[in-house]
Amino acid sequence: MEFQLVDEGGAEPDGTRLEALAPEPLLTRDYETRPALVYERLRERHGPVAPVDLLGVPAWLVLGYRESLQVLQDDPAWPKGLENWRARSEGRVPADWPLGPSLEVNHVLIQGGPGYRTLRGAWDTALRPFQDPRNPQAKRLKTAVTGYADELITLLAQGGGTGLADLSAQFSRPLPLMAASHLLGFPGSQGDDALMDMWRVLDAGPDAEPALERLLVTLTELAAAKIEKPGDDFPSQLLAAHPDLSVDALARELFMLLGMTSDHVGILISNTVVEVIAGESEGGVRTTLSAGMVRETMNRVVMRKPPLVNFVPRFAAEDTRLGNYTIRAGDPVWVSSAAAHADPLFAGQTAPGSSISSRAHLSWGAGPRQCPARELASTIAAAGVSRLFERFGHLELALPVDQLPWRSSPFMRGLRSLPVRYELAGPPVQVVPAPAPDLTDAPDQAAKRRSSLWRYLAGLIRSGS
Ligand code: HEM
Repeated sequence: MEFQLVDEGGAEPDGTRLEALAPEPLLTRDYETRPALVYERLRERHGPVAPVDLLGVPAWLVLGYRESLQVLQDDPAWPKGLENWRARSEGRVPADWPLGPSLEVNHVLIQGGPGYRTLRGAWDTALRPFQDPRNPQAKRLKTAVTGYADELITLLAQGGGTGLADLSAQFSRPLPLMAASHLLGFPGSQGDDALMDMWRVLDAGPDAEPALERLLVTLTELAAAKIEKPGDDFPSQLLAAHPDLSVDALARELFMLLGMTSDHVGILISNTVVEVIAGESEGGVRTTLSAGMVRETMNRVVMRKPPLVNFVPRFAAEDTRLGNYTIRAGDPVWVSSAAAHADPLFAGQTAPGSSISSRAHLSWGAGPRQCPARELASTIAAAGVSRLFERFGHLELALPVDQLPWRSSPFMRGLRSLPVRYELAGPPVQVVPAPAPDLTDAPDQAAKRRSSLWRYLAGLIRSGS
């Protein structure tokens, strides 16, 4: 169905309902391989807001930069919270909708309603010790991440001082999971099985459902243990800031932390590594990789390739004009940061030489619900990337950059694998166990090596040439 696009300002609200528009499926093969083309097609056809079909459920996708800001900055007009979704309340969202499981676990990212503000405030307070570099918790986290990076590099280089590796599976994905395990204060190596289960959930394969069940049980046990005996970790900080959290509610927040840290930060690490070794950027990043340069490269990467490409849905509080359509009260609206960044209004302003700051990008969100963990995520990613380039004298892609395989989900976009040829800079480093957040539960390295995570990683080692 074609729609007449009308000039801004002169547009009359159309009378068409989302359900009646027979929207095109968004998640096609085309989207997987070249999402930018799909966004552009939708923009051409519908303007800054387009009706799309998300695996059988209709939704509005916000492609315009200005319209994205309008939604993100006005929380009362565009609240989150599945209770605001008209089609769901009317029983029109299928029970087996594939995106259901990721939206139905009720935590701070998904939630609207009266409890949200207190919960978000508690997150801000609980993250503070880990985000402010002057705090001992932040220092310990950074040392721990550097230690984990060393462990992973030493393990992958067991195939030889030079060789082939998949830096996604062997470094970028496990590193943030290990950092999350540190933040969560898992005693010893106990968290490793949970980390493997988080992968199964994120990969949404056939074993995702039992893995999710096991993971929630493990996190509920962890939550109960932290209520019983608080430590110097994120769950205990969150509880101190929000003492009314039930065991189940705390477990759901921990699930959120584990998911965000593992997937988003992993994608950021891989994308930054690609930028450094095959970079489109001028300035010879490879030869001058100071800590500052790593952070700067990362900031550029996060803007150009946002890990979270489509945000979780908001819902129109009342009938509202957005782009060329009238969004009915209770309609779901997905802001696409990737599409908004390609909007000429934004892309033109951030072109090289432009004086407009790239801080206006949406990769961390915008408005009251923007990411509270930006500094934490950047610190983990930067510590990992810095250590990688210290330990490897030479790294090159084993595939041309335009042939690297991408994994596309409705929410995320990241590399499926990152094949590289490496050469270690020097002799293997003696790995010092990373400090545990609670010293009474110092990790047992031998147990860790026998854990499922370690067995999995050992199975990925490729030999020499
Ligand atoms: C590269 C890493 C990350 C990126 C790119 C990222 C990006 C984002 C974005 C775009 C949002 C806003 C979503 C929306 O408006 O619907 C968000 C929200 C959020 N992020 Fe992050 N994030 C990252 C890492 C993390 C980590 C490691 C944590 C936890 C430790 C975290 C915790 C949160 C929370 C709690 C929210 C919800 C805030 C709210 O609704 O009030 N994020 N993140």
